[in-house]
Amino acid sequence: MKNILNDFIYLIIMKDLKVWLDGELIQYNDAKVPILTHSLQYGSGIFEGIRAYETDKGTAIFRLDDHINRFFRSAKIYYMDLKYTKDEIKNAIIEVVKKNNLSNCYIRPFAFYNDDTIGLSPFKKKISVFIAAVPFKEYLTELNGVKCKISSWKRINSNILPVSAKASGNYLNSIIAHLEARYSGYDEAILLTDNGSVAEGPGENIFIVKGNNVISPGLSSDILEGITRDTVMNISRDLGYNVIERDIHKEELYVSNEVFFSGTAAEITPIVNIDGIRIGDGNPGKITVAIKNRYMDIVHGKEKSHNNWLTYI
Ligand SMILES: Cc1ncc(COP(=O)(O)O)c(C=O)c1O
Repeated sequence: MKNILNDFIYLIIMKDLKVWLDGELIQYNDAKVPILTHSLQYGSGIFEGIRAYETDKGTAIFRLDDHINRFFRSAKIYYMDLKYTKDEIKNAIIEVVKKNNLSNCYIRPFAFYNDDTIGLSPFKKKISVFIAAVPFKEYLTELNGVKCKISSWKRINSNILPVSAKASGNYLNSIIAHLEARYSGYDEAILLTDNGSVAEGPGENIFIVKGNNVISPGLSSDILEGITRDTVMNISRDLGYNVIERDIHKEELYVSNEVFFSGTAAEITPIVNIDGIRIGDGNPGKITVAIKNRYMDIVHGKEKSHNNWLTYI
């Protein structure tokens, strides 16, 4: 029942939603792309996932410049010339949030080949950008700790695909790992690198806590360079913990005091069970909760020391 109701509310919201497509703000239902678009057939889009939150001073977008920089890096890696400046995309994102009167929301800029000829090569095909924003609250965070499965699928590595780009096609790796976990009765997957060390979740970075150390796999572990991951590292240092980036063996996950995910959508999500093994005492850990509380204060503008991460609109 909850799902049907949610779908219904979502449909009503989408009907009135305005999205930005190549410089124009139009109704969601009028934003059409050819079904033969290269990006649908071959997964050649690049995108970002950004959040805005309600604060005392109105809606604020979290770490907008960092997301825009990553959007442009993803485009560059995939030979996509976006024909917009960073400022133009930034202003467009702000406009979309404003014009839809959104507070807590998820923002999706997406660049794609807007062309309807069949053929693998997108060389010199027209590129379009759309920006949509939808109301958004909880993702994995609504669960008080998630149960994870180490995926039988390995994380893609940068000899095969550029792991630091947020490109649609890269996500088939995430999707298959996630589905394997869900169909096996878990909430989420954890992917290992080709060498068997811990990489990340399908759409989240991962941390372990051992004593006073907050540890995350480094960039050489084929992870996406998460903006929340960087935020967590900053918060951890602020709170007096040691931040370490190093390879993590799979079995270290099982015996860590605490394990958690970080991500724009997942925020800070405690992991309480992996492969049927309880992490710590099976409840969200103390340090995880302290980091999460500080994170939520920062995104909601209650922690003035990191106000520079907020773009008020
Ligand atoms: C594969 C992957 N790893 C990690 C993350 C977390 O990145 P961020 O904190 O920038 O959202 C994401 C989400 O974008 C992701 O898709």
